[in-house]
Amino acid sequence: MGDALFEIDPDIRVARTLPARVYSDPEIFRLQRERLFARTWHYAGHDDLVKVAGQVHPFTLLPGALDEPLLLTRDQKDQLHCMSNVCTHRGTLVVEGPGHEQQLRCRYHGRRFALDGRFHSMPEFERTVNFPSPSDDLPAVSLGGWTRFLMVSLAPAMPFDELVSPMRARLDGLPFSQLAFDAAGARDYFVNANWALYIDNYLEGFHIPYVHSSLATTLDYGEYAVELQRFSVMQLGIAKPGEPAFALPRGHPDHERAVAAYYFWLFPTTMFNVYPWGVSVNLVTPLAVDRTRVSFLPFVWDASKRDAGAGAGLDRVEREDEVIVESVQLGVRSRLYERGRYSPAREGGVHHFHRLLAEFMRG
Ligand code: FES
Ligand SMILES: [Fe+2]
Repeated sequence: MGDALFEIDPDIRVARTLPARVYSDPEIFRLQRERLFARTWHYAGHDDLVKVAGQVHPFTLLPGALDEPLLLTRDQKDQLHCMSNVCTHRGTLVVEGPGHEQQLRCRYHGRRFALDGRFHSMPEFERTVNFPSPSDDLPAVSLGGWTRFLMVSLAPAMPFDELVSPMRARLDGLPFSQLAFDAAGARDYFVNANWALYIDNYLEGFHIPYVHSSLATTLDYGEYAVELQRFSVMQLGIAKPGEPAFALPRGHPDHERAVAAYYFWLFPTTMFNVYPWGVSVNLVTPLAVDRTRVSFLPFVWDASKRDAGAGAGLDRVEREDEVIVESVQLGVRSRLYERGRYSPAREGGVHHFHRLLAEFMRG
């Protein structure tokens, strides 16, 4: 893998964008699994999934890219845990569905584990030497919580707090404890494009006037703002006069602004879009080099504000993004396109993402 492939000049004025191959080469997609996805934080669920002691919730982390069977639990001491869901005997999946348990028991040969993942007992192992040992426990997985949302990482290259601290600074004080998941409003979109093209598109408001005519009527394009952090990007959608916005208290950094939406992207696959009605969690799941699932999960704290402003009509905006991103996927396969340049005024977020992607892919 030539290093020039992952060189992005830190100076956006002279930099060139990621080479087209990065979005279409199956070998690069394969390398991203260990170099990027295994080392970063991904959304695992919300705390209601493991609300009471004894509750267990198995899930697959990034199906298509990591395919890692994991398990969330809340133990009898009310502590949350994330661990491997693979039995340390011969590798069966331990928990097959969500439920309530006193203990975990593998249905293959009856090995038992405590809810914190520690080995408990195993029949017919009396003559096995040096058994049990710590390697018979279910491996623990790093778990982080921000408000109601849980994220996990197999081998985190950055502390969870560093990832979420920009959200804490901006969003503390909003009524996260009142959020209710709107399961009926959740949707999965399947996009025929590389996951990183979807992220590129998310990270700039540049295309809003061209691609999203409805969104453009509620947002002030001139005031749209982008702030870069080490492992995240925040975009601020500012409401046009008379359009819905947060009422932020005195002392809040955005008190003077009519914020219609906070768009937080956490490197590499998670987005928290925060509107006056609540939070739309958008998850980008890379299924294959040219196929991506985008999940929209709505969490509501004020349903009366759902149908107005930048946070309304999200399905239409998503379909508009999908069409444009699929068009880019066709373009990056061209023999006649190699890489582009950035607008320093409008594409700081895209440049920042490309720098991070390059940093992780260089290893
Ligand atoms: S594989 Fe779990 S007990 Fe044998
Ligand atoms: Fe868009």
